[in-house]
Amino acid sequence: MPNRVVVGAQWGDEGKAKIVDFLTEEADLVIRFQGGANAGHTVEVGDQKFIFHLIPAGIMHPGKQCVIGNGVVLDPAQVLNEIDEVRSKGFDLDGRLWIAENAQVVLPYHKVLDQLKEKAAGKAAIGTTGRGIGPAYYDKVNRTGIRVGDLLEEASLREKLTRHVASHNETIQKMYGGEPLSADAIFAEYRELGRRIAPYVADTVAIINSALKQGKRLIFEGAQGTVLDVDHGTYPFVTSSNTVAAAACVGSGVGPTAIQQVIGVVKAYTTRVGNGPFPTEELGAIGKELRLVGHEYGATTGRERRCGWFDAVLVRRAAMVNGLTHLAITKMDVMDAFDEIQVCTHYELDGRRLDQFPSQISAVERVKPIYETMPGWKSPTVEVREWKDLPENARKYLTRIADLLEVPIGIISLGPKRHQTIQLEM
Ligand code: IMP
Repeated sequence: MPNRVVVGAQWGDEGKAKIVDFLTEEADLVIRFQGGANAGHTVEVGDQKFIFHLIPAGIMHPGKQCVIGNGVVLDPAQVLNEIDEVRSKGFDLDGRLWIAENAQVVLPYHKVLDQLKEKAAGKAAIGTTGRGIGPAYYDKVNRTGIRVGDLLEEASLREKLTRHVASHNETIQKMYGGEPLSADAIFAEYRELGRRIAPYVADTVAIINSALKQGKRLIFEGAQGTVLDVDHGTYPFVTSSNTVAAAACVGSGVGPTAIQQVIGVVKAYTTRVGNGPFPTEELGAIGKELRLVGHEYGATTGRERRCGWFDAVLVRRAAMVNGLTHLAITKMDVMDAFDEIQVCTHYELDGRRLDQFPSQISAVERVKPIYETMPGWKSPTVEVREWKDLPENARKYLTRIADLLEVPIGIISLGPKRHQTIQLEM
């Protein structure tokens, strides 16, 4: 198996975790490389369902190794909850889960600031998950962050927290009129959390590179999606990390030569949570039906997802900035319900045809999606296991998407379970 990156090629929630879980069968090591507990990765194994926010989806395969890489912002209490849950369901984690000592830690003041900033922004709010992601990445690039390894060095942890809490309290109180936090209380809590995660903390860059040298097969698991990327997304309505495939290298400490395949996961339609432009959004009955049939409610916040038709212009951009080698198309079964299906093939902007997703949000806000109508198939696909057994119109729909994007399809997902998957040549 080639080493693979699995990324979201829309606005997140594409079903990456199911694809990662499916592909882990052939892999040895799965690595999360960016984002934090803003992600909600759902995996169903047998009759058990897990929602991971931090632990890689590959953990459900006994014997496989998982790494939370240096590019992640780690909420230690959250990862401990997930560890407890996975253990309680009978999965052994000893010697299989590693947390980068140079990953950043999300602290209570990050969450407070995230929420206060959003509240103060009023109509300009981003609609964040409130998990402290933006402020944690801010501290990282501002060089005022606390790293996982720092939690294990008590004397310097107290000193750093005293300084950083004082400066964040200034902002919390003076800018937002919020309540100050106690450095002593945070120190006591995070020293204890540090003790509890210590058995998992390691130099993961060395672990990953040693696996590479031994010819082990790696999967890099992305979180969120390409149009939420801080450089390539609908800025400022984005998350605070790079979500594109190239971030796998930086966020785990490998060179670009380590990766041979880039799999872009897309839903057979489009969804978005949070604010910001969404050219193919359907505000009426179609959007409602997609939400109902596709169970489109956020795995992290429970918020209703905004829904619309497949947008090939947006995914064309994602194919480009990620260098996609394959598509994994998920939730194909949701389309079983429709008489007719629309696919956005290009946009119009000020009377001009646009084939590329604009990089300025002011243009994205003004584009008009131009659709091609395709016939539906109105028959259930959840039990289909082979390409040839898909209804003819379903095959036509998938082929049209691959043609529009000029990227071949590697995987089709027809339901949340592992076996509800068709794998094509990859
Ligand atoms: P943040 O990452 O919490 O700062 O939120 C920034 C934007 O990214 C908001 O629109 C969130 O709804 C969105 N977002 C963050 N994580 C996810 C995810 O895992 N799936 C979908 N949207 C997300």
